[in-house]
Amino acid sequence: MSEEHHDDAEHESGIKTPKQLITVVAAAIIVPVLVIIMLTQFVTLDNKKSPGSEVYTASAVAARIAPVASDAVFDASIVVVPKTGKQVFEAQCTTCHTAGLLGAPKFGDAAAWGPRVGKGYDALLQSALHGKGSMPAQGGGDFTDYEVGRAVVYMANAGGGKLVEPAAPAASAPASAASK
Ligand code: HEC
Repeated sequence: MSEEHHDDAEHESGIKTPKQLITVVAAAIIVPVLVIIMLTQFVTLDNKKSPGSEVYTASAVAARIAPVASDAVFDASIVVVPKTGKQVFEAQCTTCHTAGLLGAPKFGDAAAWGPRVGKGYDALLQSALHGKGSMPAQGGGDFTDYEVGRAVVYMANAGGGKLVEPAAPAASAPASAASK
């Protein structure tokens, strides 16, 4: 008997007066509404600017770096310096040409380079630019034609050739243009 009574007490609701009922009903309406309002605020937060953030807008940044970012300054001082034949060789060609990988003529091996150099610079350059046999175009590198040419001369001459460095293309000679 006493156990039954205990169960009843457990299932009793906490609401005992009309005032409590009103409070609970009001809360049941107001709380979800508040949550929804807060969520919409959160979602639209992106569009709101926090104080001081205007200084990071693209136009404001552009205006601030204008003195150093202008074309005039860039043209005169930032020049892409072409790599030397040695630099290209050390960056790319050495992979195969130092050890003679895949049957590549070894660097400094006059016997291997002699007959190839005999074909002339242009033939060698075309092979280096577009690939030959197991050698991919540019030896798999990403250089200007001028840089590849310099690497060809560097390697061929190390192998006993007497090739002349290719002339620098006009576009990569701004140093002389700037000194005018
Ligand atoms: C993946 C290996 C590999 C790399 C990297 C590589 N070569 Fe070669 N190279 C070869 C092989 C193999 C041959 C021989 C091709 C043949 O005669 O069939 C060769 C041949 C050549 C020849 C002679 C071509 C001819 O017509 O006889 C030149 C010049 C040359 N390479 C230049 C370069 C230059 C310059 C680079 C760097 C930009 C380079 N190679 C990077 C594998 C390579």
